[in-house]
Amino acid sequence: MEHAGRIAFVTGGGSGIGRAIALRLASAGAAVAVVDLHAGAAEAVAAEIRAGGGRAIAVAADVSAARAVADAAARARAELGTPSILVNSAGIAAFDPIATLAEETFDRMIAVHLKGTFLACRELAPAMAEAGWGRIVNVSSTAALNGGGPGLSHYAAAKAGVIGLTKSLAQELGPRGVTVNAIAPGLIDTPLIRGAGAPEGLYDEVVRRLPVRRIGQPDDVAAACAYLVSDEAGFCTGQVISPNGGAA
Ligand SMILES: NC(=O)c1ccc[n+]([C@@H]2O[C@H](COP(=O)([O-])OP(=O)(O)OC[C@H]3O[C@@H](n4cnc5c(N)ncnc54)[C@H](O)[C@@H]3O)[C@@H](O)[C@H]2O)c1
Repeated sequence: MEHAGRIAFVTGGGSGIGRAIALRLASAGAAVAVVDLHAGAAEAVAAEIRAGGGRAIAVAADVSAARAVADAAARARAELGTPSILVNSAGIAAFDPIATLAEETFDRMIAVHLKGTFLACRELAPAMAEAGWGRIVNVSSTAALNGGGPGLSHYAAAKAGVIGLTKSLAQELGPRGVTVNAIAPGLIDTPLIRGAGAPEGLYDEVVRRLPVRRIGQPDDVAAACAYLVSDEAGFCTGQVISPNGGAA
């Protein structure tokens, strides 16, 4: 899949799935704005891309803050050019039973995943529509489709919101040449799942039941994303692709 000449804006690009997507798009020729809350993580990925001969900048931004997203987009435009690919991968996760789920925790979950995705789309989609070509990929989760299990109500709700946003924007932007799709990964081996406070043995149990009998890797998701942002995927919009190892 060739992405030469494209400019990509990847949120959560400093780690895990976002990092794999940033590296994969860069290796196929895209210039990448690696956007992450953690400046050091974003810089490490941008440096890795540059070391491999690619073009990348690191941008520190909290995707839940409109001002920060606007500033990040402005930097990407000024230093790389106008992005025609947006990947929203920034995310957080935690297990919180409903009885003790704090209002602030719920609000933060919605703010990072759903509002953050909305803000980046609002910032970058108009120029894509204006140019008549764009690709937006929003990282949701199988939790949006199956609830995710006990303790993930806030996460599942935020990720389900991302799917609704995706499908509506696909309808709005399709006539302007911009596709909008979601990826709903299953269990992927990243720092996110290791730090989420999952019940003991949960992940082993999930993997034991998977037809492919292994945990997913960030590249399993990056491969799907590389397709969705390609020219070839122009007929694919408003879809939810789920690399999940065959989970029921
Ligand atoms: N790992 C999984 O099993 C899995 C499964 C389904 C969906 N997802 C989703 O995939 C996406 C990437 O997750 P990951 O597993 O790679 O996790 P990760 O923790 O490795 O990466 C997430 C990145 O997002 C950044 N981030 C967090 N809050 C941010 C904010 N407010 N603004 C900007 N950046 C922020 C973090 O600093 C981190 O670098 C998330 O949206 C996650 O919900 C992950």
